[in-house]
Amino acid sequence: MQKTLLPQDQDLWDQVGHRLTWFKPYSDLFSGSFEKGELSFKWYEDGVLNACYNCLDRHLPHKKNKVAYYFEGDEPGSKQRITYQDLYDLVIKTALVLKKLGVQKGDRVLIYWPLGLEAICAMLACARIGAIHNVVFGGFSSLSLASRLDDCQAKLVMSSHKAHRGGKEIKFLNVTQEALKHTTHKPQAILTVGSTLENLEGVPCYNFEDLEKEVTGDCICEPMNAEDPLFLLYTSGSTGKPKGIVHTTGGYLAYASHTHEVVFEVGENDVYWCTADVGWITGHSYVVYGPLVNGCTSVVYEGTPLYPTPERYWQIIDDYSVNVFYTAPTALRTLKAQGDEYLAFTKRDSLKCLGSVEEPIDPNTWHRYYEKVGKCHVVVRDTWWQTETGGIMISPHKFALKQKPGAAMTPLPGIYAYVLDPQTKERITQGDGHLVIAQPWPGQARTLYGDHERFENTYYSTYPGYYFTGDGAHLDEEGHIWITGRVDDVLNVSGHRLSTAELENALDSHELVLECAVVAMNHDIKGQSPVAYVILKKDADTSSIQDVLNKWIRVQVGPLAICEKIIPVPELPKTRSGKVMRRILRKIANQEPDLGDLSTLSVPEVVIAIQAAFDKTKE
Ligand code: WT7
Repeated sequence: MQKTLLPQDQDLWDQVGHRLTWFKPYSDLFSGSFEKGELSFKWYEDGVLNACYNCLDRHLPHKKNKVAYYFEGDEPGSKQRITYQDLYDLVIKTALVLKKLGVQKGDRVLIYWPLGLEAICAMLACARIGAIHNVVFGGFSSLSLASRLDDCQAKLVMSSHKAHRGGKEIKFLNVTQEALKHTTHKPQAILTVGSTLENLEGVPCYNFEDLEKEVTGDCICEPMNAEDPLFLLYTSGSTGKPKGIVHTTGGYLAYASHTHEVVFEVGENDVYWCTADVGWITGHSYVVYGPLVNGCTSVVYEGTPLYPTPERYWQIIDDYSVNVFYTAPTALRTLKAQGDEYLAFTKRDSLKCLGSVEEPIDPNTWHRYYEKVGKCHVVVRDTWWQTETGGIMISPHKFALKQKPGAAMTPLPGIYAYVLDPQTKERITQGDGHLVIAQPWPGQARTLYGDHERFENTYYSTYPGYYFTGDGAHLDEEGHIWITGRVDDVLNVSGHRLSTAELENALDSHELVLECAVVAMNHDIKGQSPVAYVILKKDADTSSIQDVLNKWIRVQVGPLAICEKIIPVPELPKTRSGKVMRRILRKIANQEPDLGDLSTLSVPEVVIAIQAAFDKTKE
């Protein structure tokens, strides 16, 4: 069945579309369906535009000397000031280099670069020539990189020689080299900044600095249809295989720009800073596309909150007079653990909005953010959304009029966020249930790269006619939304999404592991952290197993997936049909006294042995 926009939303989404500059204006606002089998959504479909044009070219006549980015390097004192004209010039160079290497409209380009000017230029250069970028976060291992490379069949990989973070050097190009040993697909070339490597599994490696000297002239913007993909971004789901979320040029871009304005209200002379890495959707929507389409001045900081001291974030806010600051609760908790004295050295008087994203902001963290960081006069805006939604969906935004510590609050105008009872599948008006979205919005993901069926099954089949978010939510008596966390097997570790299956596959592939189950335990700083229960082969040395398997995970998935505890157990708690009851493992990991109903277990006694094994890890 076709989905139609509600009459009251037509003007809104039309105005949102008009935020962009179109080479050919659209006349179709929306067409599509949420039904399985005919699932599709098309926004501004007959319009033609270019994302890079909207981020750069169109600003040049009136704000070419406005700062687009203040770059703050890892080492204090390393600073760069990039105007819109500077950024345009750099992007043209990068785009010409991509063209020289044979990249064309529709080709996939994998960007495995640290957060920095190069990565942003790489994304915009791809957009300019119509190539589809796929940024992979620097914390992923060579094997994770390899699986993404194989899935998207990238023509080119852009990878920096090395980068600095938290005072440490990370060798991106070496990881890329390792990844190429494991891929079946070989890209045509590797493009790097810094020195090249010779043996990249037969793939030629070019140095950007060499190639940029060979290109001159302009590079026109490729006219793109609104529904042409702008980028792919891989995210974790409940199976081991990451999903390549596809976002489009028109709808995504318009939604990123619109939400950035509605939620953060960044003024013409304001300075805005989002701490996210471009390897995640927050970096795409709120470091690159949203702020640039809106012509904002942003700060980009490539380092960590604690380097060289825990006042670094606050110092940067003072140095650049940041007005709007957007970060994640895990960073706030990391800083809180260092004590309040670091706040005392800075003023933060410029602040007028404090944003939060990636996980529920617990009331304690909220209070500290509001009272200590914002000194009780700066609005705190939690923002709930996902890689799949393209932009912010729920927030105490300017039309919500109220904020409650810990609540995501109110859907943005035009967003219909409902809570459904998982049993009856009916909408509830108060209480707990699953969060769904009932109406289309321009920023919604269109498909999973190369797997529309999985897209339908994951998001549109649990609750027919709705987009299922995978999150649980509580609706309070005033109808405000509190996100209660994932209801699928997805972990949220320091705001990074990981699937338990991805970790279990990695552990299962180790020679010492017979069987395993991974669950989340609550963690003071990271929010959640993985705990693995493993059945080991007889000859395994249990005293060193945590180190051995964590090293393995680091290689297989990446450092972000390291387990808090790896607990050798004799058996896993299973139902009679052989399903692992994670609920019990989760409760043991979180030291909950009541393990609930154990009667459906095939051998209820195993719980005692697992509990004893867990208690041993506390000694
Ligand atoms: C999942 C999406 C949104 C961009 C960064 C993460 C959780 C995200 C919040 C929030 C409670 C949140 C949800 C969601 N999440 N923001 N403000 N309150 N939970 O994007 O990697 O796609 O993860 O992060 O569980 O489903 P992502």
